[in-house]
Amino acid sequence: MKKNLKKIMILMLVLAFLLSACSPAPQPTTATTAAPTTAPPTEPSGMKPGKYIGEVRGYNAMVKVETEVDADKILSVTVVDHKETLGIGTNAVDLMPQKFVDAQSVAVDVVTGATATSLAITFSVRSALEQAGADMATFTVKPAPPTPKDAAYDAGVVVIGGGIAGLTSALQATLNGAKVILVEKMDVVGGNSIRSSGGFNVAGHPQQIEAIGLTQRTDPEQFIEFTMKGGHQMNDPALVRYMVENSAAAFDWLATIGMEPRFGESKTGGSVPGNAPGLVVGLEERFKEAGGVILLGTKVTEIVMKDGAAAGVIATSKDGGTVTVSAKAVVLAAGGFGANLDMVTELDPSLKGFVTNNSPSATGDGIALAQNVGAAIRDLNEIQIHPTVHNPSSTMVTEGARSAGAILINTSGKRFTDEVNFRDVVSAAILEQDQGFAYILMNQDLVDTNTNIQGYYNIGLLKKFDTLAEVAAFMKIDAAVIQETVDTWNSYVANKNDPEFKSQFDWRRDLSKGPYYTIDVAPGIHHTMGGVVINTNGEVISTTGDIIPGLFACGEVTGGVHGGNRVGGNAITDCLVYGMTAGINSAAYVKN
Ligand code: FUM
Repeated sequence: MKKNLKKIMILMLVLAFLLSACSPAPQPTTATTAAPTTAPPTEPSGMKPGKYIGEVRGYNAMVKVETEVDADKILSVTVVDHKETLGIGTNAVDLMPQKFVDAQSVAVDVVTGATATSLAITFSVRSALEQAGADMATFTVKPAPPTPKDAAYDAGVVVIGGGIAGLTSALQATLNGAKVILVEKMDVVGGNSIRSSGGFNVAGHPQQIEAIGLTQRTDPEQFIEFTMKGGHQMNDPALVRYMVENSAAAFDWLATIGMEPRFGESKTGGSVPGNAPGLVVGLEERFKEAGGVILLGTKVTEIVMKDGAAAGVIATSKDGGTVTVSAKAVVLAAGGFGANLDMVTELDPSLKGFVTNNSPSATGDGIALAQNVGAAIRDLNEIQIHPTVHNPSSTMVTEGARSAGAILINTSGKRFTDEVNFRDVVSAAILEQDQGFAYILMNQDLVDTNTNIQGYYNIGLLKKFDTLAEVAAFMKIDAAVIQETVDTWNSYVANKNDPEFKSQFDWRRDLSKGPYYTIDVAPGIHHTMGGVVINTNGEVISTTGDIIPGLFACGEVTGGVHGGNRVGGNAITDCLVYGMTAGINSAAYVKN
C-alpha cells in the first residue's frame, strides 16, 4: 500500500509537471481553471486572430485541441487528436468544445465521469487563449447558472441507471412494447460497466460445446458449481442457476439486436466488437433508435410508491430543477458502491487505503433508494478486490491477460501463485508479496491476441523489453532468476502440469519468445457483491419477504448472484441476463 501511495504522489507530480509544461503555462486552481471573476467582460480582449494548438495529457494520453479566435471571441474549439476511451473520455471530446464557445469562457463545468479528459481540453483551450494574447480575466468568467427548470414525464417503465444492466433492461422493455425513460445521474451513460473488459461468461452455447466440448466453463451444471464455489457458497443458488442457464440466450439476444457477439480464443467467454465501450454504445444507440428516452445529469432522489406499488421516481436535474417521472414500473439498475470509499471502509475496515477502479458513479445511491421503500438488502460487506489494478492509474488490467497465459512475478522475479485462481485467492497472494505488489509478465505473441491488452499498450501502461535480461535490469534483479522462472513455466506449459501452483493449462501459453511486456499491478476495489434482494423474475423483495409490486432490479445494485466473491466474467452476464429479465417482466407488468 505504501508503494501505491508513493506512486499516486508521483502521478500527481507528473500531472502537475504536464500541466505546467503546456506553453504558455496554464495555472488551473480548480476543475474550471482559474478563479472566475463575476463581472461580465466590457472591453474586447484584443487577441491575435488565428488558430492555436494546446496539448495537455488527458486520461490515457495527450489531448490536442485547436482553438480558433478572432480579436475578441472564441470562434471554435476542435479536439484534433486524442486516445481517450470510447464511451468515457470521448464524451468529453464530444461535449466540451461547444461549452467554451457558448460561454466564451474556460470556466465551464466538466463532463461528469470524464473529468481528466474534460480538464485536458479546458487547459488546452486556456493555453491557446494565452498564446493569442487574450486578457484572461475576460475568459475566466463563470457563466451564470441556468435557472432551475422543473419537468414532468409519463412512462410505462422508468429505469434508474445507464450501465449495461440499465441499458439492457430499458432496451428489452422498449422492444417488448413499453414506453421507457432511463434516468442517469452522470452526464454520460456507461456506469461501472464501461470500465470492465467487456468479456462475459456463457455456458451451454452450442457453438462453444461444438468447439471445445463440455468443460467447467461451458457445461452449465459445472459452471453453476464453479460460480457457487467462487462465491464461497454464499450465493442464492436459484439466482446463479437462472443466470447460467440464460447466459446462452443473452449471447444470442445480442446477435438478434445486431451486436455481433463472438467467442474469443478460449471459447468460454463472449464479447462484442469494441468490448465494454462497444457494448454500452451499441445498447444506447439501439435503445434510442427504438424510441427510448435518456435523461442525463438527472439524479433520482426517491422511488415514488402509490398504494404499495412503485409508481415512478423523483429526481434532481443538473440545474437544480425537480424532475418527476410517473410510471407503472421502476427498474433499479443504479450500480454498486465501489467508488464510495467511506461506505466501503465502514463495511470492511480492512480495505482502508486501497485504490478503486470503479467509476465515480458507483456510490451506492440505489441501495439507499431501495431501502427507503422497504427493500431487503443482503451481503453488503462482501466487497471484492481485483488482483491486478495498474498503479498509479487505477486501471483494471483484465484477468483475460492471465487466462491467456501471462504470468505473475514478484519483485524477486519469481512466480508465487496460480494466476487464474479465484480473485480473492490471487489478491491475497499478491498482498503477501514484497510491497503487496507484482508484475504481469507476457510476450508479444500474447499481446497480439488480446485487444484489451493492446489498449493498455496504446495508453502507455505496458513496458516493453526485447529480452528477459532487459526485464531483469528494469526490475534490478539477477537475469538468471527471471530466465529460470520463465524456463520453468515453459516446461509446465509443455507438460500441461504445474506442480508448484496447480495452474490450469487449457489455454496457457509458452513464453520462450520475446519481445516481453510488464505491467505493475496491485489489488484494488472492484465489485460490491451485496445489494438489493431479488428473485429470478428480477422482482425486488421486501424486508418482510414479499414482492414489492412494480419494482424490479438488476446488475450490481442487487445482491445474491455472486455471494462472497464474484467469478471473473460474471458481472456482464449478470447485467445482461437480469437486465433482459427485468425488461421483459417490467414491460409485462405494465401491460397487465
Ligand atoms: O479482469 C477482468 O477482465 C474483469 C472482469 C470482470 O470484472 O468480470
